[in-house]
Amino acid sequence: MINPIKTLALGAALLAGFTCTAQQKPADNSKKIDALIAKMTLEEKVGQMTQITLDVLCKGDNRYSSTHPLTLVDTEMKKAFGHYHIGSVLNVAGGKAITPQKWYELISGVQKSSLTNDTKKIPLLYGVDEIHGVTYTDGGTMFPQEIAQGAARNPKLTQQAAAITAYETRACDIPWTFGPVLDLGMDPRFPRQWESFGEDPYLCAVLGAAMVTGYEGNNMGAFDKVASCMKHFLGYHAATSGKDRTPSYISEDALREYHLPAFKAAIEAGSQTVMVNSGIINGVPVHANYDILTKLLKEELGFKGLVVTDWADIENLYKRDRIAISDKDAIMIAINAGIDMSMVPYQYEVFCDNLIALVKEGKVTEARIDDAVRRILKVKHALNLFDKPNTNPKDYPKFGSKEHEKASYDMAAEAITLLKNEGNVLPLKKNIKVLVTGPNANSMRTLNGGWTYSWQGDKTEEYAGKYNTILEAVQNEIGKTNVTYVPGVSYKEGGHYYDEFADKMDEAVSAAKNADVVLLCLGENSYTEKPGDMNDLYMSDLQTELAQKLAATGKTVILILNEGRPRLISKFEQQVKGVVQSYLPGNFGGDALADVLFGDVNPSGKLPYTYPRYPNATIGYIHKPSEEQKKAEGVYNYEADYNPQYPFAYGLSYTTFAYKDLKISKPAIKKGENVQVTVTVSNTGKVVGKEVIHLFTSDLYASSVTPDVKRLRRFEKLELKPGESKTVSFELSPKDLSYAGRDGKTILEAGDFEVAIDKLKAQFTLTE
Ligand code: BGC
Repeated sequence: MINPIKTLALGAALLAGFTCTAQQKPADNSKKIDALIAKMTLEEKVGQMTQITLDVLCKGDNRYSSTHPLTLVDTEMKKAFGHYHIGSVLNVAGGKAITPQKWYELISGVQKSSLTNDTKKIPLLYGVDEIHGVTYTDGGTMFPQEIAQGAARNPKLTQQAAAITAYETRACDIPWTFGPVLDLGMDPRFPRQWESFGEDPYLCAVLGAAMVTGYEGNNMGAFDKVASCMKHFLGYHAATSGKDRTPSYISEDALREYHLPAFKAAIEAGSQTVMVNSGIINGVPVHANYDILTKLLKEELGFKGLVVTDWADIENLYKRDRIAISDKDAIMIAINAGIDMSMVPYQYEVFCDNLIALVKEGKVTEARIDDAVRRILKVKHALNLFDKPNTNPKDYPKFGSKEHEKASYDMAAEAITLLKNEGNVLPLKKNIKVLVTGPNANSMRTLNGGWTYSWQGDKTEEYAGKYNTILEAVQNEIGKTNVTYVPGVSYKEGGHYYDEFADKMDEAVSAAKNADVVLLCLGENSYTEKPGDMNDLYMSDLQTELAQKLAATGKTVILILNEGRPRLISKFEQQVKGVVQSYLPGNFGGDALADVLFGDVNPSGKLPYTYPRYPNATIGYIHKPSEEQKKAEGVYNYEADYNPQYPFAYGLSYTTFAYKDLKISKPAIKKGENVQVTVTVSNTGKVVGKEVIHLFTSDLYASSVTPDVKRLRRFEKLELKPGESKTVSFELSPKDLSYAGRDGKTILEAGDFEVAIDKLKAQFTLTE
């Protein structure tokens, strides 16, 4: 397909339109809610706290699977809504994407049944994981995944992407998305790192808040806004094993210093729902943790919204984590810990009947139930569901429009990160012959990753045929006759997520001999959650072998990475001339990548994580001074140094930038005062380029906890023409200089601080 994006001029009004939609302030419905609760029976209240998956209501062999075309079963709905008063439904049924019209038929059908059968006529709250666009909708706009958005470092684009997703989500009659993912993507082994904005708490906080604003605006009851859901509270990606839903050990100071800031920022941005971490921290499953869910989240942070479990996680307290001796015990523990809604998602009778009994036995108070129901009804009111329980696709003409696609392309173009450019091999000329090879070269599935048209992203080829793979985009860029394609290595399909088999490796190597340049597209196949767990962080063996064999031909090899986490490339990185990281750039990632490779776009992405060189050295940029080891000089010359393949925030450009005049407003400030930092950045090269200015601070000495070597405190992305200079000003507040002490309490200490921007450094003193 011809790249549709380049032909579309981006009106400056586009972004403005998304950020300034006129919205009425939401009304205060607390009196109405209290009056309703006063009239509700215990059974009705418990029903509100129950969330089931759509499969339960659709025709199929059993509750766990539905058959296409999806059909609602009346008797099931009567039972769920009439007898059990179920308040929420989630997910797609039948395991794959459907059209907006089909969504509307299903959700309006479910909503109608709920409003007809439920005695109190409370509208249903429908939720779906729309984490990079409308996940389970045919024809919607798929954006780059959050990890790529972390690389783009452009909060306006992130807000715009969320606003478009909100619009397209409502076009499908869905008012609630399970995003943003605010987990700290600190572990390259973890199968969900790509769902996060990366390894830095501040970056996650800024982009997370931008996403919440994009989803909710200042009134999520507007026709084009949805409720966001911050997830997964708290400390989800810190599993010791690096595998999904396995235990983590997180100290109080680390929990607050690294994992909490993004959630705090998102709450301040107005997010009204939160999903709980499915794992275990310090021996206690988070779903059973009163200190985290009630004391920290609801009391200390003042969160007034609703807390929903993750998938089957109350049942897991009994069946997996064995902290409860029965389903009933598990329900008591979780509800008393602070859970408001249970994503059951199948055996809802077990949840409802047991919770009703627990209240009657006095083991869960009715006050706790009322609190949960109040939070749920508040969200339903804020979404305007009482007045307008459904939204119809016919009112959303911009669904999947060129305008929306352009926003996705722009994000991909800003995310793609140039990691190596030996001898300025890139950008490539357009009159050359290239070999495009590797298992990711001709795959829409790998460009998108998981949560795309299906949970694991394995059905993407069925839906995304009209978009360009890397191969197709390169063909569009320089003409088909200049492009040879040999996969070399392919992924196994059907249940295997990242294994691959040798296909035509020798053919690829001989084809390289006739090419000027080899575009080697390596990485991972799509996956998420448990199915993406793995034992070896190195790029898989066959891909490594393909890279080494191609490099041995002596041809110029450009490595294009398309992966959810940084798979180690140190076994062949030195042999390739260029490295371009595309992350999971979405349906327009192929087009954006081709534009970067051939110089139509100057790359400006910056790594949102540390790219490790070795599997035993996965420590991120946030670390302690003792982790900055020198190479060991022992008999065996151990590789003990901190030496990542590429550091956090790294990313090259086709132009050069120079920094000068780093200034701090005062040499000394008192506690409570702010400090201004300025720096001048110039484009010293020949082409226009975007640069991200990162401001790091270091606390030189601290008394309670050893300070981190450095921490990101501010960033700003700006565009400079050749020869142009701009002075950028940042304001730091005492909050940026404080840290969480051993007991989790915030400490602000007098002493010396260093500010670093690029290679420039300056110091100031904080006095009492
Ligand atoms: C995931 C959540 C997701 C939920 C609902 C769970 O398995 O951990 O991130 O929101 O399913 O689909």
